[in-house]
Parts: sequence; structure tokens; C-alpha cells
Amino acid sequence: MQAAVCTRYGPPSVVRIEERPVPVPAANEVCIRVRATTVSTADWRVRSQCMPHGFGLAGRLAFGLHAPRQPILGTELAGDIDAVGAHVTAFAEGDAVVAFTGAAMGAHAEYRCVRADRVIVRKPATLSYDVAAALAFGGTTALDFFRRAALCADEHVLVNGASGTVGSAMVQLAVHAGAEVTAVCSGANADAMRQLGAAHVVDYAHTDFARERARYDVIADCVGNAPYARVRDALTPRGRLLAVLATLPAMLRAPWVNATTGRRVIAGPAAERVDDLRTLVDLAVAGVFTPCLDAHFAFADIARAHARVDTGRKRGSVLVEVA
Ligand SMILES: NC(=O)c1ccc[n+]([C@@H]2O[C@H](COP(=O)([O-])OP(=O)(O)OC[C@H]3O[C@@H](n4cnc5c(N)ncnc54)[C@H](OP(=O)(O)O)[C@@H]3O)[C@@H](O)[C@H]2O)c1
Repeated sequence: MQAAVCTRYGPPSVVRIEERPVPVPAANEVCIRVRATTVSTADWRVRSQCMPHGFGLAGRLAFGLHAPRQPILGTELAGDIDAVGAHVTAFAEGDAVVAFTGAAMGAHAEYRCVRADRVIVRKPATLSYDVAAALAFGGTTALDFFRRAALCADEHVLVNGASGTVGSAMVQLAVHAGAEVTAVCSGANADAMRQLGAAHVVDYAHTDFARERARYDVIADCVGNAPYARVRDALTPRGRLLAVLATLPAMLRAPWVNATTGRRVIAGPAAERVDDLRTLVDLAVAGVFTPCLDAHFAFADIARAHARVDTGRKRGSVLVEVA
């Protein structure tokens, strides 16, 4: 099979297409013929080792000291089951599925084995492989942070970085939860955010939301430029800051804020849960959650897809069509 392999850290050009053996599923696994996947900011972070401030050493320890321990990146995919392990009863050969490999990665290949009891669900026929492949990375992050924040209907939510993969999922899922949503993005993305359901849009080039009079029950920072010290006065007295992207010092300060202020800072990696993926598939079928798709690339051009992600300017997810 062909796989996009990253045998050293560096720019997009370190990603090469190579021949690898087709994996054979273990007894509790299925082997998926991948049809579509994405290049995400997780792939960019692992490939470039560009980590939030303070996480440089942790990144090397987690992903490999001198080169990626898992050379095939890619966190999410949609495809068809090609082979089934001896003990698997939940899936059969030919089933169309969507899977979130998350931190284990390995989705940038023609075939990927996944444990049948992990984050994998059937793909309804009404969802395209492209849309299905882009549900998990932003969607599961949004669901997990909103769950930890105990988001309620009628709350006012501000999403900073609303036009990215995580931000655009947060806008749609917060609207669906009954919240009033303010999206912070560039002027070029303002109309797209209104179409996703944002009631208000703030263009960060002209307005600093943290200095305005509005107060928010929840502020989700998907950019990393809205630490607690900056947004404290923009939060309600029981407000929550969702630090989707947080530096190590900010994470270390969070317990102090949480213990002393009545407000909360919620940070750390989002959980990878099959129930969340199932929810996202259901919401996508119902037309409630439609992942924003940025550029599409052929598998042979996956290095260009990485370069697009590296710009930091993508709107939603960068799709890679494998088959
Ligand atoms: N904690 C977790 O478990 C977790 C999970 C997933 C992701 N993350 C992290 O979350 C961050 C966001 O991920 P992502 O995939 O959503 O990123 P992304 O898709 O690359 O975000 C790109 C978007 O950010 C916007 N942006 C850039 N600068 C901005 C600014 N100053 N203010 C507002 N918007 C700005 C851009 O809009 P314009 O072009 O309009 O500027 C663009 O649409 C990443 O750092 C990622 O590592 C954390």
C-alpha cells in the first residue's frame, strides 16, 4: 500500500509517499481501506514539533526524541472495511466506516487497522467520505470541552479562532446546544461564521473582544492568544475559559484560578470517545453539524496539504482524498 511517511521532523517536504505492507488486522481489529482523511493541526504539530510554549520536551517524549515514533500521521479517516479480525462481530467486510485514530495517528495511508472497540462507527450512506473524514478532530474536541464546561442553553459563548477546524465545530455545536454565539475571526470569514449560526461576529483585526463591554459565560480560545489574564474581565462571574490551546505556564496556573476566583480555566487534551463520534455522525446526518472543508488534495499531493495547514489560515479542515 501507499503511505505518507514522515521519518524526521521538519517542514511539509519531509512527508514522502512510500510503499508499505498492507497491515493485517489482529483478532480484535478491522482493516479499513481509507477513502478520505485530513491533515490537521495535530499533524502539523507532530511533524514540525512546533509545540505550545513549555511543551517542547513533552512533545519529543510523547512523539519521539529525534523522529516521529509513528511515522504515518493522520488522526481521522473514512473508508470501507477490507478485512475483519477473527473475534470482531460488530463490523463486516464492506461496511463503510468513520474512525478517529487520534493520538495513535496512522490515517495517512491506503489501509489502517483499528480496534473494533475503539473510536469507529458506521458511516451512513447519506454522508460523503469527505464529510465523514472531517467530523472527528474538531467535533470531538468541541463536544469534550463543552461537556467539561457544562455548557447550558441560553449561555453566551465566544469562540476565538472560530473559522478553524475546532472553532467552526464549536460555533455549530454551541448554537445547537441553544447558546448565543459570538465568533472571532478575520473579516474574510465573517459571512461564513454567520451562516454557521453565529449571532455576532468580531473581526480581530479591528476589535479586541476582551476590551469590549460584552460578558461571556464561556470563552473558547482556539488560537492561544486569549489567556485568563487577558479575558478575565470579559467573563461572567462564573464564566469558563476553554483553553483549547494552552501554554504550560497557563495550565499550571489554572488550578489557582479555579480555586480562588469562581471562574474556571479548562485545558488539556480532549477525550477520544466513540459516543462523541456517534453523536457527530447523527448530527451530520440531521444537518446540524457540517464540517467546513477548506482545500481538497489528492493523496500524492499530501505534502501540499501539510503546507496549507502550516499557513494557520485554513477555514475548517484540509481534505486528502486517498482512493
Ligand atoms: N486541547 C486539545 O485537545 C486540542 C484538540 C484539537 C486542537 N487543539 C489545538 O487547537 C488549536 C486550533 O486548532 P484548529 O485545528 O482549529 O486550527 P486551525 O484550523 O489551523 O485554525 C485556523 C484558523 O485560525 C484563525 N486565526 C488565526 N489567527 C487568528 C486570530 N488572531 N484570531 C482569531 N482567529 C485566528 C484563522 O482565521 P483567519 O484566516 O480568518 O485569520 C483560521 O481560520 C491548535 O493549536 C491545535 O493544536 C487542541
